[in-house]
Amino acid sequence: MTLANSTVLVTGANRGIGRALVDAALRRGAKRVYAGTRRPLDHVDERVTPLGLDVTDAAQIRRAVEQVDALDLLVNNAGIALLDDLSDPAVLEQHLAVNLFGGYRMTRAFLPLLTRSRGAIVNNVSMMALAPFPVTPAYAASKAAAFNLTQSLRALLAADGVRVHAVLTGPTDTEMTRGLDIAKASPDGVARAILDGVERGDEDIFPDPVSEALAESWRTGAVKELERRLAAFVAPRAA
Ligand SMILES: NC(=O)c1ccc[n+]([C@@H]2O[C@H](COP(=O)([O-])OP(=O)(O)OC[C@H]3O[C@@H](n4cnc5c(N)ncnc54)[C@H](OP(=O)(O)O)[C@@H]3O)[C@@H](O)[C@H]2O)c1
Repeated sequence: MTLANSTVLVTGANRGIGRALVDAALRRGAKRVYAGTRRPLDHVDERVTPLGLDVTDAAQIRRAVEQVDALDLLVNNAGIALLDDLSDPAVLEQHLAVNLFGGYRMTRAFLPLLTRSRGAIVNNVSMMALAPFPVTPAYAASKAAAFNLTQSLRALLAADGVRVHAVLTGPTDTEMTRGLDIAKASPDGVARAILDGVERGDEDIFPDPVSEALAESWRTGAVKELERRLAAFVAPRAA
């Protein structure tokens, strides 16, 4: 797919990677970018349409659908990451509500538009979907679940011509990683690499130097091969 002349919706668009994705899509010639945010957003570019969108709020998602008449690319980017030690189930539920069910509900709600355009979904997951950083274990569990869901959606929606991409993002310099004293990629570079991956048709996108180090072994590894073999069980629908 190409971003030029496309219509894109990004959740969590007011800061960090989401904000960078809005600007990157505009630079590639998107004709409309819907910026989903929990607080009002001003953007100088008239191609940006703000949408009040808490991804845990079903009524707000319904209202957002009513404001969008066509969509080529849905980017489920909104996310939370809290420090925890798995002692409080409420923290796990909070992560699942945003990082798993948020993207799931957005996908269900916008699927008719994406099917009509034979469009694409990008789920900004995390490298932690593959191995947890035990300082944020509830976050990692929610991202592992979101990645697994992404893999199933990819297989299930292929018959409708909807592509589903996972982004296995590594450490990026945003509010989410403030206080972590490690090397971090820039949100602009990550956004650029995500859109490159979408335009190339990469199923799994590794958009920064740390995650990129995993890309080759992931794509040629036994687990990816298992994903392909299991996905083949729903392939007849596509035929
Ligand atoms: N930064 C990293 O190192 C890294 C690594 C791997 C994956 N990621 C993923 O990348 C995505 C973007 O994160 P970021 O690094 O850009 O972090 P960020 O700067 O903290 O941005 C998070 C965004 O999500 C929004 N958000 C949170 N809860 C929401 C909800 N219930 N409904 C709608 N929006 C909500 C926030 O909006 P408010 O301003 O209203 O809170 C904000 O716009 C996340 O999914 C994150 O897990 C980040």
